[in-house]
Amino acid sequence: MAGETEYLRLDGDTITVVVAVVPGEYADLVYLGPKLDAHEQLHALHRSGLYGAHESQPDSPPVGGLLPEPKHGDAGPVAVAVRDGAQRVPTDFRPMRHEADGRKLAIALEDAATGLQAQIEWSIEAGDAVRAQMALANDGDVPIAVDRLAALALPVPRRFDEAITYAGRWAAEMQEHRAAIGPRGFVSRSRRGKPGFDGGNWLMLCDGNDDAVIGAHLCWSGDYDTVLESDADGRAMLVIGPALEGGEIVLTPGERFETQAAVFAYAEDRTALGQLFHRHLREEVLPGRAGWGPRKVHLNSWEALAFDMDEAKLIALADDAADLGVERFVLDDGWFAGRRNDRTSLGDWEVSRDVLPNGLDPLIDYVEARGMDFGLWVEPEMVSPDSDLYRAHPDWCLHEEGRERRTQRHQLVLDLTRAAVSDYLFERIDALLGAHRIAYLKWDHNRDLFPAANADGPAGYAQTLGLYRLLDRLRAAHPAVEIESCASGGGRVDLGILSRCNRIWASDSNDAIERLRIVRSWAQFLPLEVIGNHVGPSPNPITGRRLSMDFRAKVAMFGHMGVEADPGSMTDGERKALRAHIALYKSWRDVLHGGVLVRLDHPDQGVSALLSLAGNRGLALAAQTRVAATYDVAPVRMAGLDPDARYRVTLPEPWPRKAMRYLANHESWREGHVLSGRALVERGIALPLAHPETAWLVALERTDG
Ligand code: GLA
Repeated sequence: MAGETEYLRLDGDTITVVVAVVPGEYADLVYLGPKLDAHEQLHALHRSGLYGAHESQPDSPPVGGLLPEPKHGDAGPVAVAVRDGAQRVPTDFRPMRHEADGRKLAIALEDAATGLQAQIEWSIEAGDAVRAQMALANDGDVPIAVDRLAALALPVPRRFDEAITYAGRWAAEMQEHRAAIGPRGFVSRSRRGKPGFDGGNWLMLCDGNDDAVIGAHLCWSGDYDTVLESDADGRAMLVIGPALEGGEIVLTPGERFETQAAVFAYAEDRTALGQLFHRHLREEVLPGRAGWGPRKVHLNSWEALAFDMDEAKLIALADDAADLGVERFVLDDGWFAGRRNDRTSLGDWEVSRDVLPNGLDPLIDYVEARGMDFGLWVEPEMVSPDSDLYRAHPDWCLHEEGRERRTQRHQLVLDLTRAAVSDYLFERIDALLGAHRIAYLKWDHNRDLFPAANADGPAGYAQTLGLYRLLDRLRAAHPAVEIESCASGGGRVDLGILSRCNRIWASDSNDAIERLRIVRSWAQFLPLEVIGNHVGPSPNPITGRRLSMDFRAKVAMFGHMGVEADPGSMTDGERKALRAHIALYKSWRDVLHGGVLVRLDHPDQGVSALLSLAGNRGLALAAQTRVAATYDVAPVRMAGLDPDARYRVTLPEPWPRKAMRYLANHESWREGHVLSGRALVERGIALPLAHPETAWLVALERTDG
């Protein structure tokens, strides 16, 4: 028998969440939206949002609520599915106990027939991000295999009728797709052992008028399953969780399994949503963020030298880097064992005497003497079949006994569930970090997990936990070392890895036009300071596109800036332009990395614009990627400014060479125009953006004058 309905209310700074618990029946979402008055009557809110039964429906229409299962005629997506041996076990979880304290709720549910206990926890954290997690405990007498346990089941409020999801491939990550949720919804999943280039575990739900948006994400670096289904009643359910294929999770009596967390946030528009996620990352996720110093300008050796490196070339590169104003010199792939190409030596983490006959230290000394610190590339999770490690321990990789071991990029994956493997990797990297002054590791992952299995069976889930354990152990031993998560670019970007890392490598494509799109997509969720964004060579080795240094450098400033090209092959003019932009980046990085990011809209689809605001200052980037239809492109309108404040607006130099001849009143832009926030927001400023590959920086300074 159902008990009296009780309401659990959570309030953030800007949002309210209300959940109804009908004891013995179900728990359901009543409200998710802007913060409600403290006196809102929750009972009335609940009842006024319920629908009656229609023809050809169960007599009591099913409520999926916060734990949808296939029961009472509910045919929607499920958040839990379990087996006893080969047999699927039906469940019927009923809420038994609950608690809430205004920021956090916990609901305990029980399935009487199996003795399974489920736990749902939601809490509002910094940035009004709601962190959701589920757990399952086996209080029965037989082992139970868990095929599905979502972190979050979110009954989608009816106003949200569109979804923004991402597709992508290597060097073309995070392609945004917006579509009506429609009568069927969508499924998004990864089965490669990581979230993948398509950023599929990030998504948004919007209403057609664009005045409400929900962002949701699974904080997990392994495979995921996301399902959004809508039914004939018009209800939609979003279910997000780790992929648990293959019976990897089996709960013996007394055991408990807890999922990784999912987070979701509600905001009135995409800029506000981004700002919530950024705050959440800065205050809750990124390790020790408050203590981070300025994000140093990198120079990475990969696009400059690839495997063609020796001490003299690295020394020359370090000289060029220092001359540009670079602050961190990163030695990428090719420095260890016999690694002269990508077919060999992963796993043998010893400095190559062919490349560096005197070891790493003289190079590090040289780099430091020029005012830079030193970073190193590693790919610890992998092994090359042509390596001493593999020859000594052929059983240390993920594999299925008796089946062919197929490679990707000529490499296999080490089995991080084995203590011996994890200890070996810890010992090797710990030795490197202990013996040399290494400030930063670029931690790469260039192969999908197939098969995600070892002698005990499926191991994909445990492999990701093994990665976390290894990273945690290394971080504890070397807390000052910064780590970047790279997976052939942005193949593993999630809040699980970012709670252990300082930045992500957004893409292997440094083509600045592609980067504008990719960084804008990542910046929907991640603050600029964690998005590695480098100036690449021209022509770009992946796309073949030629772009001016001015354009490449301006685009790279909006992120954690670096150089991924050989300054030795640049013209004097290019080096001068790059040096100037690196200096500009340094003078603006407190604004870029400590501020709030505003996504500026522009009617020309070729124009991409962002504005970062901190304290009294703001810096915008307005970049045109294609030929505009008219000479005079619509003014760039700011947003996020105080309408009643006044701002001095200047255009920081260097200016784009071709476009500057179409700028009216050059001198006035050097002195700056003082305009109200209202004028800047409503009318905006006229910039020459008719030509492709033109980028302008716009500086704002709040003034009393
Ligand atoms: C991956 C990374 C690149 C580079 C190479 C080195 O592709 O994404 O940035 O480090 O590996 O092999």
